[in-house]
Amino acid sequence: MGVFASTEDPGTTGHEQVVFCQDKQSGLKAIIGIYSTALGPALGGTRFYPYASEEEALADVLDLSRGMAYKNALAGLDLGGGKAVIWGDPEQIKSEPLLRAYGRFVESLAGRYYTACDVGTYVADMDVIARETRYVTGRSVEHGGAGDSSILTAWGVFQGMRAAAEHVWGAPTLSGRRVGVAGLGKVGKYLTAHLLEDGAEVVATDVNPKALEWVRATHPQVELVDDTAALVASDIDVYAPCALGGALNDDTVPVLRAKVVAGAANNQLAHPGIEKVLADRGILYAPDYVVNAGGVIQVADEIEGFNFERAKLRATRIYNTTREILRLADDEGVPPAVAADRLAERRMAEVGRLRTIHLR
Ligand SMILES: NC(=O)c1ccc[n+]([C@@H]2O[C@H](COP(=O)([O-])OP(=O)(O)OC[C@H]3O[C@@H](n4cnc5c(N)ncnc54)[C@H](O)[C@@H]3O)[C@@H](O)[C@H]2O)c1
Repeated sequence: MGVFASTEDPGTTGHEQVVFCQDKQSGLKAIIGIYSTALGPALGGTRFYPYASEEEALADVLDLSRGMAYKNALAGLDLGGGKAVIWGDPEQIKSEPLLRAYGRFVESLAGRYYTACDVGTYVADMDVIARETRYVTGRSVEHGGAGDSSILTAWGVFQGMRAAAEHVWGAPTLSGRRVGVAGLGKVGKYLTAHLLEDGAEVVATDVNPKALEWVRATHPQVELVDDTAALVASDIDVYAPCALGGALNDDTVPVLRAKVVAGAANNQLAHPGIEKVLADRGILYAPDYVVNAGGVIQVADEIEGFNFERAKLRATRIYNTTREILRLADDEGVPPAVAADRLAERRMAEVGRLRTIHLR
């Protein structure tokens, strides 16, 4: 395993293991971050991205692997948290030898880390990686994989939103509420369908004209607005960020008219402290990593041999988990994001501790 220099110090971040992998001939430079295996093997996708520097790649993998530990813990999975990054432009350097070299490094961890898709990697890449390692999920349907994870991601977001609606308005339904969906991509489209079926009014926006054409053709009742700024300032009850991270920031939060935020996008809180601003404005934020766990629940199910109904049942439980977090937040007088972290840490500590009971 090659090791390349870094100025970061994972020793201070609480990660169990950080592995630098290099294969000069194929051009592979990867970092695998394992934050915790307290609940089981670490699961998290591989991000293939042209980072500006190795420091940036390392910072991302440390951050993302920690996030996966919390997400997997709250999703009720017997899986820890990890993530990997491949440093480089996938358009330029992705190749069979590079992916297979990466697969061999994953295999060398002997099951401490399971990989899956993330930004820049796709099911077809997982099939290539799987030629070198057993520890890969998110594979194609022909290889026993679960296929498109956005189906259960959207279902889980809808469940989390129902729990938030119940907390604020007393009934677990979006019926009669006006929901603003920012981003009509893979998840946003399915979410829109669930919302309409539940009797919600949907107002939406997207930067991609094809997404707008899709919604005009399939759901003409959806109202379209020019951009996210117009959406957040409009008269909505619920805001569902389903595009990129950082949706809840110093521009959007002060003008947001919704009472509830629940959406699929990862890392919605632009900076620490913004969750407090939301709470002070009386806006209930259902933590992103809790409500968008349907996708990881789906790929995790593949490890057992994929069963859609079982995975859907698990994703449906996002309703219960969100409810529990919102109650805990009220009881402890903290924002839901803090309550979610506490609950995840509790499960990692309490269930992880059981491994100290000696079996043989
Ligand atoms: N797909 C999954 O299973 C999954 C799981 C967990 C989290 N997420 C997160 O959910 C979000 C959406 O995922 P996806 O799979 O639907 O991605 P996607 O790329 O299919 O869709 C994103 C959509 O957002 C639109 N968009 C981009 N910038 C925008 C802007 N400024 N304003 C309005 N629209 C904009 C894009 O045009 C696109 O239609 C991402 O943040 C992703 O990380 C997805």
